[in-house]
Amino acid sequence: MAIPREKGLDNSLDLLLEGYRYIINRRIRFQSDIFETRLMGGKKVICIGGKEGAEVFYDNEKFRRQGAAPKRIQKTLLGENGVQTLDGVGHKHRKKLFMSLMTPERIDDFIEITSKQWQIAIENWEQKKEVVLFDATREIMCRIACEWAGVPLWAKELQQRTTDLSAMIDAFGAFGPRHWRGRQARNRSEKWIRGVIQQVRQGQLMPHEDTALYAMAWHSNLDGKLMDIQMAAVELLNIIRPIVAIARYVTFSALALYNHPESKAKLQTDSEEYSHMFVQEVRRFYPFGPFLGAKVRSDFNWNGYNFTNGTLVLLDIYGTNYDQDLWELPEKFRPERFRGWQGSPFNFIPQGGGEYDIGHRCAGEWITIEGMKVSLDFLANRIDYQVPKQNLNFSLVRMPPMPKSRFVIRKVKQK
Ligand code: HEM
Repeated sequence: MAIPREKGLDNSLDLLLEGYRYIINRRIRFQSDIFETRLMGGKKVICIGGKEGAEVFYDNEKFRRQGAAPKRIQKTLLGENGVQTLDGVGHKHRKKLFMSLMTPERIDDFIEITSKQWQIAIENWEQKKEVVLFDATREIMCRIACEWAGVPLWAKELQQRTTDLSAMIDAFGAFGPRHWRGRQARNRSEKWIRGVIQQVRQGQLMPHEDTALYAMAWHSNLDGKLMDIQMAAVELLNIIRPIVAIARYVTFSALALYNHPESKAKLQTDSEEYSHMFVQEVRRFYPFGPFLGAKVRSDFNWNGYNFTNGTLVLLDIYGTNYDQDLWELPEKFRPERFRGWQGSPFNFIPQGGGEYDIGHRCAGEWITIEGMKVSLDFLANRIDYQVPKQNLNFSLVRMPPMPKSRFVIRKVKQK
């Protein structure tokens, strides 16, 4: 069977113009969860989405990650040759390292640190006339990330480290200056973390054995040799950087609270369950990861469609969150949809799908959810603040997006 095909020699411009909606617009137009297009200089690319699409995309027999992530993304967001690019036993061994950090005890530590850092921050916010929530939350998250990971952070470097970790995230969909800022930020951050790991290996720094710093500094590869220091720095940044990224979801949570004031009362009365549903809906509704790429490992046929060795396949993450078959009225922000929700590893994939240990699903999904819940509790129940008139619009074309004003709040007071 022929895969529906988008006309044109290179549709990269459409992707730039339609951003997050590029794949879902065509899935709707072709009435098909699979279509073929040409991107990045006319290369044939297959786009898939929806639950079944995610299911096949996460079949390790059919797809590989090696060679899928563009160098420009590795040189900014991800780092070169990290866990995201590995396959098979190499990936399994490295992923075990990441998942070993996500024990219930360490998740509890994360919750405790998050709560403590919010408390410190809001005492400071009370002294200020105005706080730009996105910027201030990035700083909170940078402190949390370093404390939880066991990485020393001096007060004088907080701003630079926060700016750099954020710039790597901000660069993923960028060309031009924003891309170059991301590269510089990565070079500076890798140098910083290499130095920290060096200190651990030389016995000048003794992090707790439970921490990511300890684990990365002393991790052995499958051949029994200590992980190369540059690789260890890339992987430790794969812990610290995405914790800073949680600030984006926290800012979107504040926006959701502002746009749906009725949920505040629900968060106060029905707090535990509602908070979980609210956070899930923020991760579904607001854009972050647009799509993921993998390459066909060897020829196969799926639902009558032929996939040939080496073809790049993009999985529509954003569009799967807006899939009409999976979500009733997906354009509406409705935390209640998650009450008694029957999830599967493939139908809700803002942080990837499939399995954690043998697949590429996000290693930090649990701490993201917990960090968001603690932050939401502060925003909804622990402080009062005013939201002055400002431009809260965000674009679905800019990757990653953020409200224009970065969410300004005034007159913060603890309750
Ligand atoms: C992978 C999103 C937070 C660590 C991923 C993937 C996505 C994602 C889409 C790719 C899944 C795939 O390739 O199939 C997010 C979002 C976050 C977030 C939107 C919220 C801010 C975190 C946190 C951590 C983390 C807090 C760690 C502390 C990782 C790692 C991988 C990953 C290590 C690579 C997994 C692998 O390749 O096996 N994330 N993530 N992420 N994430 Fe996250």
